[in-house]
Amino acid sequence: MKSGFHNVALIVAAGKGERAGAARPKQFALLGGKPVVAHSIDAALTHPAIDGVIVVTAADQRQAMEVALDGRDVRAIVDGGASRRESVLAGLEAISALGGAVRVLIHDAARPLLPHAVIDRLLAQLDGSAGAVPVLPVADTLATADEALGDIVPRTGLVRVQTPQAFRFDAILAAHRLWPVDQEATDDAQILRAVELEVAMVEGDSMLEKITHPQDFASAEARLAARASIR
Ligand code: CTP
Ligand code: MG
Repeated sequence: MKSGFHNVALIVAAGKGERAGAARPKQFALLGGKPVVAHSIDAALTHPAIDGVIVVTAADQRQAMEVALDGRDVRAIVDGGASRRESVLAGLEAISALGGAVRVLIHDAARPLLPHAVIDRLLAQLDGSAGAVPVLPVADTLATADEALGDIVPRTGLVRVQTPQAFRFDAILAAHRLWPVDQEATDDAQILRAVELEVAMVEGDSMLEKITHPQDFASAEARLAARASIR
């Protein structure tokens, strides 16, 4: 039997967090007293179907990452690249070197609150598709904008795509290896679609909103408190 993982979680945390404007990258900020990056790692480590967690960090933040992980049982800490897509590819290659996996969940460390139910929905979809992503409807009016407001963009047929994004490991690794080196990609589903594989959709979760701007920390604290109060 091929060694390696059944379901591995790949947490990308090698960004600089420039838009969040804090002194250090947002994945190291404390949320409910715990580093942002540690929240989704704990969610992955405690999910019964996940048998390994790999973290990607900026090479010059390796020490900060080790402090943030505080002995958590991750299988590898991998050096990332200059773009998210390069960081993901570095993580996938590291998993491959460890013997590969059947499925991989690729997740932004900047989305700390990761419900187990979303992981369940994604893994269930991978029996019929090479990829699956969580999506939410678009509620606000959308419009083009330049100096002033432009035209309304119809919302029908539009969704907001979150992470984790789940893939059959061999399919997403092959797709990433074929993607042009210098081309950015904000998510991995588009990289799978570039090799003409279908990506299924499951219901997303507002818990998974990304921390991008300074005000997003307070929203994440509020979601964390709301989750604690319903448990
Ligand atoms: N990421 C990464 N490697 C990079 C860039 C981003 O691993 N070279 C990760 C981030 O750490 C984050 C996720 O990809 O968990 C989503 O990216 P984003 O929200 O854009 O985070 P940053 O790139 O850190 O933020 P910014 O773009 O504001 O600098
Ligand atoms: Mg970025």
